[in-house]
Amino acid sequence: MKSLFPLLEKNKKLIYLDSSATTQKPKEVLDALQKFYEESNANVHRGAYSLAQKATVEYETAREIIAEFIGAQKEEIIFTRGTTESLNLLASSLGKKLVAGDEILLTEMEHHSNLVPWQQLAKEKNLLLKFIPVTSEGILDMREVKKLISKRTKIVSVTHISNVLGTINPIKELAVLAHAAGALCIVDAAQSVSHLPINVRELGCDFLAFSGHKMYGPTGIGVLWGKKELLEEMEPVQYGGDMISEVTFKDARWNEVPWKFEAGTPNIAGVMGLAAAVLFLQKNFKEIQGHEKELTEYALEKISTISELKILGPRILSSGSHILSRGPLVAFTMNGIHPHDVAEICNRYTIAVRGGYHCAMPLHQKLGIPGSVRASFAFHNSKKDIDTLVKALQKAQEVIR
Ligand code: ALA
Repeated sequence: MKSLFPLLEKNKKLIYLDSSATTQKPKEVLDALQKFYEESNANVHRGAYSLAQKATVEYETAREIIAEFIGAQKEEIIFTRGTTESLNLLASSLGKKLVAGDEILLTEMEHHSNLVPWQQLAKEKNLLLKFIPVTSEGILDMREVKKLISKRTKIVSVTHISNVLGTINPIKELAVLAHAAGALCIVDAAQSVSHLPINVRELGCDFLAFSGHKMYGPTGIGVLWGKKELLEEMEPVQYGGDMISEVTFKDARWNEVPWKFEAGTPNIAGVMGLAAAVLFLQKNFKEIQGHEKELTEYALEKISTISELKILGPRILSSGSHILSRGPLVAFTMNGIHPHDVAEICNRYTIAVRGGYHCAMPLHQKLGIPGSVRASFAFHNSKKDIDTLVKALQKAQEVIR
C-alpha cells in the first residue's frame, strides 16, 4: 500500500508510525489540490463568471461528499482549520450562553484541543470543569458519570478515541446521559474518523469535530458538524465576508448555516483535498479497517514481549469483527529511558514515532509518567514495520543501559 503514497514511494526506507499526529497523503489527495489550482481556482460564492461558478459548485459538492460520509446534511458541515478550531468555535459560541456556576464535563483523557478552550471559557465565565476519571485499565469510569452530571451540566465533550490510550469511548451512552441532564454532547473525532464508520445520527451526539490531515487529507482543513437546529440558534464567532446576508455602516445580518460560520475566503483547495481523502477512505474503508485491526493486534503482541516496557491503555483484542476494538496506536513507556531518547534511537532506524505528551499532558501527569512513546498505524504500514520497531526498541534498551 506504500505505493499509494508518493512521500513513502520517494523515501523507501522510512517507516512512518506517526499517523495519529498526521497521516501521509495518497496521490488522489495531492492530485485534487493541484487540479483545483490548475483548473478551477477562483473565489467561491462571489463571482458571476463561469470559473467562479465552477469553483463554487466544486466546493459545495465537496461539502455534500463529506456530509454523506458521516451521515449528515450538507448544511450541517462547517469547514474549519481542523479539530482545534472546531472546538474553539464551539467554546466561543456556546460559551456566550453559559453563566457562572454552569458545568462542563470532559474526561481525563482529552488532548489539549478538547481541554484548553473549555478551561479558558471556564476561567472567563466562572464555570466549573469536571472530568470523568480514567481507570487503571485506561477506560472511562462510567460509574462516575452519573455522579458527575448534574442539572448544571451544560456540555459534555469527549474524545471518541484517545490519542494516547487508544480507548474507544462509549459515545452513544454518554450522549444519552448528557441529554437526560439537558446537556449538549460534543465528540472530538480527530482520532476516529478515519478508523471507524461514523454516523452522527447513530452516535446521538450534537456536535462532532475532526481534522482533514489525520484522515489522509491536507493540513489546515477540518470540519465541525452540528445539528442544524442548534447551529441556527448559535452566534458566529468570526466576522467578515461571506458570513453575512446584509451589511450597513451600523450593523450586519448573518448568512444561513453553514456559511454563517465560514467568514472570509475559505481553504477551498483544502476542501477539495478533504473530499478526495473521503473518497479514498470510502473506496478502501473495509480493507483499511481490517488491516489496522490486524496491525494493532500484532503490535500489541510483539511490543509487549519487550522487557521493562509498559503499554498504556486497554488490552482489548480480537472480537472477531472487522471493526477495531481499540484505536490503531500503541503508546508505551520504557523503564529508565526517556520517551524522547527512544524516539531519537528509533529515528536512527528511519522509524518515525512520537515521543512526549502527544498534546495530552494532564493524562500523562495523572499516569505519573514523563511522557510516552507512541507508534500509530495506517493503511500503508506492514507487520515488517512493527518487527523493525521492536528491534529498534530492543536496541534502545541496550544503548541506554
Ligand atoms: N493530537 C495530535 C497527536 O496525537 C497532534 O499527535
